Amino acid sequence: MAAKYTYCSVIPFCVFLLFYSFPSHYCHAVYNITPSQALSKAQILVSPSQIFELGFFTPNSSGNQYVGIWYSKQISPSKVVVWIANREKALAVTDSAATLIIGSNGNLNLVDGKANSVWSTDIPVPHSNNSVAVLFDNGSLVLKDSISGQVLWQSVEHPGNALLPKEKMGFNVRTGERYELTSWKTETDPSIGNFTMGLSQQRPSQAFIWNGSNPHWRSGPWNKIKFTGAPEMDPSYLSGFKLEEDVEQGSASFSMDICSNSYCHMFISSQGIAKVMQKDKETDWYFRWEAPKSSCDVYGVCGHFALCKASGSPICKCMKGFVPKSNEEWKKGNWKGGCVRRTKLLCDKSTGNSSSSPKGKKDGFWKMGMVKLPDFHEYVLIEKAESCNAWCQSNCSCLAYTFVDGIGCLVWSKDLVDIQEFSYGGEDLFLRLAHTELDGGKQIKKVIISLAAIGATGIIVVVIFIAWCRRRANRKGKIKETSEHFNLTEMNDNSIDTLQSARRQDPHELAIFNFDSILVATNDFNITNKLGQGGFGPVYKGILHDGKEVAIKRLSSNSGQGIKEFKNELTLISKLQHRNLVTLMGCCIHREEKLLIYEFMPNKSLDCFLFDRRRRSELNWARRFNIIHDVAKGIVYLHRDSCLRIIHRDLKASNILLDGMMNPKISDFGLARIFQETIDLANTQRVVGTLGYMSPEYAMEGIFSEKSDVYSFGVLLLEIVSGKKSNSFDLFDEQLSLIAYAWQLWSENRALDLVDETILADDSYSTSEVARCIDIGLLCAQDHPMDRPTMPEVVILLSSETDRPKPKRPLFYFGSSLKSFHLQPQNGVEYCSTNEGTISMIEGR
Ligand SMILES: *[C@@H]1O[C@H](CO)[C@@H](O)[C@H](O)[C@H]1NC(C)=O
Ligand SMILES: *[C@@H]1O[C@H](CO)[C@@H](O)[C@H](O)[C@H]1NC(C)=O
Ligand SMILES: *[C@@H]1O[C@H](CO)[C@@H](O)[C@H](O)[C@H]1NC(C)=O
Repeated sequence: MAAKYTYCSVIPFCVFLLFYSFPSHYCHAVYNITPSQALSKAQILVSPSQIFELGFFTPNSSGNQYVGIWYSKQISPSKVVVWIANREKALAVTDSAATLIIGSNGNLNLVDGKANSVWSTDIPVPHSNNSVAVLFDNGSLVLKDSISGQVLWQSVEHPGNALLPKEKMGFNVRTGERYELTSWKTETDPSIGNFTMGLSQQRPSQAFIWNGSNPHWRSGPWNKIKFTGAPEMDPSYLSGFKLEEDVEQGSASFSMDICSNSYCHMFISSQGIAKVMQKDKETDWYFRWEAPKSSCDVYGVCGHFALCKASGSPICKCMKGFVPKSNEEWKKGNWKGGCVRRTKLLCDKSTGNSSSSPKGKKDGFWKMGMVKLPDFHEYVLIEKAESCNAWCQSNCSCLAYTFVDGIGCLVWSKDLVDIQEFSYGGEDLFLRLAHTELDGGKQIKKVIISLAAIGATGIIVVVIFIAWCRRRANRKGKIKETSEHFNLTEMNDNSIDTLQSARRQDPHELAIFNFDSILVATNDFNITNKLGQGGFGPVYKGILHDGKEVAIKRLSSNSGQGIKEFKNELTLISKLQHRNLVTLMGCCIHREEKLLIYEFMPNKSLDCFLFDRRRRSELNWARRFNIIHDVAKGIVYLHRDSCLRIIHRDLKASNILLDGMMNPKISDFGLARIFQETIDLANTQRVVGTLGYMSPEYAMEGIFSEKSDVYSFGVLLLEIVSGKKSNSFDLFDEQLSLIAYAWQLWSENRALDLVDETILADDSYSTSEVARCIDIGLLCAQDHPMDRPTMPEVVILLSSETDRPKPKRPLFYFGSSLKSFHLQPQNGVEYCSTNEGTISMIEGR
């Protein structure tokens, strides 16, 4: 057979390769299969750049043999199979004469040792002698006509359990095609298992995992950016996850292209869990995303008209105005029965009569925030939220409605099912309830409010008096700092929930400081102790009773977040430990006051040096380069290595603190998370960030991702090199930003003109390092998130003289684009810099 005429037939050549310790299997590599060249068991078909390989393999401890596609050894040392030809009909492992051939009818054909066909592409082929099969670098096996180049068949149109980048999952009603992922039966048996993943034929579509024909998980409708029911699918996926719907054609397809400089695929496990796996050059495979993750993610765990909350106890509760169908079952934890309406609606679905009888008042709507929208939505073509409300109000079949950005008006007429309450993200849902149900709530509220009003005045007077007395007493007597330790055994965070352990306990302890000890330490928040004012509140220097210096951040009062949630969040943040992160020592909660206690940094922040005419020379090039490197490592930790995967959202020179040895430590990480929670409660979307450091997608649309931190890091890097403030350029006069200025110099081959003159003279100055940094700064600050490198890539780029891609020309100018926003300049003085112009935008959703 023609297979002999491969590289291996030239024996001296083969030996030569082995001698240089090439993987021996490359000796058996072929690049195509033709009518005269089959693929035998001893050979592999490789893609042009040796990214994927196709060949015969045997899953662990199974007696079966399959033909499959996997990542080549140079990409992934462990064998990760992404496609299998003969899933349904295995070859015996003992069959050593099996071959993959192009048959006489021009089809690709897998035949066993007795020349029986085991699997075939099975399509009509016009010119059977011209067929050739090749493997592409995207992992697709393609059968094509070698003369015309016409693609006859491709494996990406027949997915197995995995979806490769740009491969499509979806359906076309007109042609009846469905592209779905199907799980393996077990980890080692690739035959068709119980679970299928695909898109539903709804508008807008949702991704589903089905167990047999029953829904097992649901993504929530697609809002043109992401799936509304998967808030953890943070917008860093934005640039890569895509769902295209064509209502006229009756088709929808989902694809992902999230890994520009790494490898990734999505697959559905034999247990029914969808996972996005990623592998960067320097890492092993890791989960980028998975679902279902918590017990609430499993379809309909709580039955009809009930809400599932992963951190609730129990997780299921009836919606307002509903009671358990069977109290007994509900108490036992059998929630499947769901809940039933307590008070009949005036507007009766069966009669379709919406005109109110003289007695009753019209039904109303109860708003639920931050929820995963129920299944069975119906789309109504309405432009305005008010009209959506009116439509639902006037149609007795309508049980609930919502108006979602990017979708429009959705209504529900079937029993509501699979609703989740999130701790962040999610949508509003307006539920139809009888008037008395709504009124009842209001009356109770009114009573509480009026009681509170009467009581409050008196209480305030008393409290102020007591506080005044205590403070006086404290100042006179000697005060001991008390720091109790909390054990938050009930901690339960959505992001670390797993299906197996919906509840997780953590013995981590967070020091809780006594408010009186803080008053003493800061001399009653004396103005002379104030170090600065940050985006989240002022910072004071404090000296504890044992003489230890600390920095105390007094968070601007926000009553939105409960104390328990706040503590939980802090417990998580305090677990982030890295030499380039400021250590959170503890917190103090006292009535409305929320204080964070950090280690004290004697050299204040980077901007105190960088933008100070006298002190900037203390930062020679070696120190600057070290700071750049360490900050990058700190961000990698936040993005990738920590348990939380934090996006900082407000990286800037004033948030880089310096210790006694001038080592940088990032501060204020994780605070955006705390504040975001409150902000969601207020039903607005707020952007925390600083002018000049904000990526275009963040500034304009409030979309933040790891890549928006990369952008801020790029700006910071250019600032460190140039000693110029990014926002010192006159933004509102449409002049150049620091980035545009740097790019211009770079494009004229004068990049080094950007460098701060004060470092040109010092010994450690290295033009190659500086040039490298400018390149990386420009790469990080590119307009399009997809073009920017990831932080692990940045660290690699920083430490090696490898080839770098060329940065693209920045088109985004703050000057022209920001005018249209409602800017609310806050008092953004942080530690020592002035005029930072930290902004927060309030956007109605
Ligand atoms: C294909 O090739 C075979 C053998 O070379 C030849 O007999 C046959 O006529 C060819 N068929 C076509 C359609 O060209
Ligand atoms: C798949 O379904 C079968 C039959 O319902 C069941 O016996 C088996 O345990 C299921 N497998 C998994 C992984 O759920
Ligand atoms: C009321 O809503 C139902 C369900 O969405 C729909 O089928 C029906 O056409 C609507 N009726 C009117 C009058 O719009």
